[in-house]
Amino acid sequence: MRACRREPAARTPIWLMRQAGRYMAEYRELRSRVSFLELCKSPDLATQVTVEAREKLGVDAAILFSDILTVVEPLGFKLEFTKGEGPSIDPPLRSPDGVDRLSRPDPAELEYVYAACRQIRQELPPDIPLIGFAGAPFTIASYLIEGGPSKSFEHTKLFMLNSPQAWHELLGRIADLTTGYLTRQIEAGCQAIQLFDSWVGCLSPELYREFVLPHSARIFASLPKQVPQIHFGRGTGQLLELCHAAGGSVIGVDYMTSLEAAFERLGEVAALQGNLDPVVLLADRKVIRQRLELMLRQVGGRPGHIFNLGHGLLPTTPVDNVRFLVDEVHRLTSR
Ligand code: CP3
Repeated sequence: MRACRREPAARTPIWLMRQAGRYMAEYRELRSRVSFLELCKSPDLATQVTVEAREKLGVDAAILFSDILTVVEPLGFKLEFTKGEGPSIDPPLRSPDGVDRLSRPDPAELEYVYAACRQIRQELPPDIPLIGFAGAPFTIASYLIEGGPSKSFEHTKLFMLNSPQAWHELLGRIADLTTGYLTRQIEAGCQAIQLFDSWVGCLSPELYREFVLPHSARIFASLPKQVPQIHFGRGTGQLLELCHAAGGSVIGVDYMTSLEAAFERLGEVAALQGNLDPVVLLADRKVIRQRLELMLRQVGGRPGHIFNLGHGLLPTTPVDNVRFLVDEVHRLTSR
């Protein structure tokens, strides 16, 4: 929490995106019995997965076990996770008239998430902050419009370019729901929040400013200022200042961006989180230490660094390497 406020901390805190998941045997065992969505919708199981992963790794924060796509059901869409292919939304939103037919979503429909937050907060050690999260309007809209993962985001970009009015209406509705969703997570015990704009890196600064920034900005501006806000996107080297302008006291830096350059660009106005390449954790320990030391030299002891990966842990990551990383970050940064 101190690092989020750019205050000096006894050591660099570390947590990892996707710290609970398929690379852990306990998680795979649980998943052989329940589906991913059932897991997200059971506060008991979501608590178990969140708390056990935190404990096993010795990281300095827990992130709520859930998914950014929980919000698509209250918006009136059918969500499925298919093995090997990831999320699927069928039928996708392809026409501007579809926006008028969307349900007026009520954040109270996601009560199972708030119940999980309350239970996780109770079961975590008191000195371990709980991070809540949501997807940013652009990334959620991209799933609604594409219907699943995409490389080119052509349907999403065409929707925004051809039907700007419907686009802004859609993102406004997602932003309203997300504001209520994050506010309730905070009320249920989350001490920081992260907004994931995972796929916004496919946009130019011009498109980001016109079609995305105002909607993400409205979410950040509506949340209580004393709760640290982490703003993350992948492939956003060209957008860092604009992402910061949209909001976030902490900016998440992806693994394709130089952390040193990011500190030069934003270090005076925001804390930074990141940015080890998740693939490094598949290498041997000598390589992991080398890359870690290089990163820490780039940070140069500046306050306001939260150690993380530059995107989520890969399912093929050896758990022992993750524990090694956590211990090394703590050892090398103890002041
Ligand atoms: O970080 C954590 O440990 C908390 C849990 C968490 C999950 N998803 C669990 C999950 C968080 C914070 C997310 C966010 C999320 N979900 C994002 C943003 C982060 C990012 O990766 O950029 C996105 C884009 C999604 C959408 C999503 N959910 C995809 C594309 C997939 C399938 C691909 C994949 O990586 O598995 C999911 C499924 C998902 N979300 C799993 C987990 C543990 C795997 C589900 C399984 O058990 O099969």
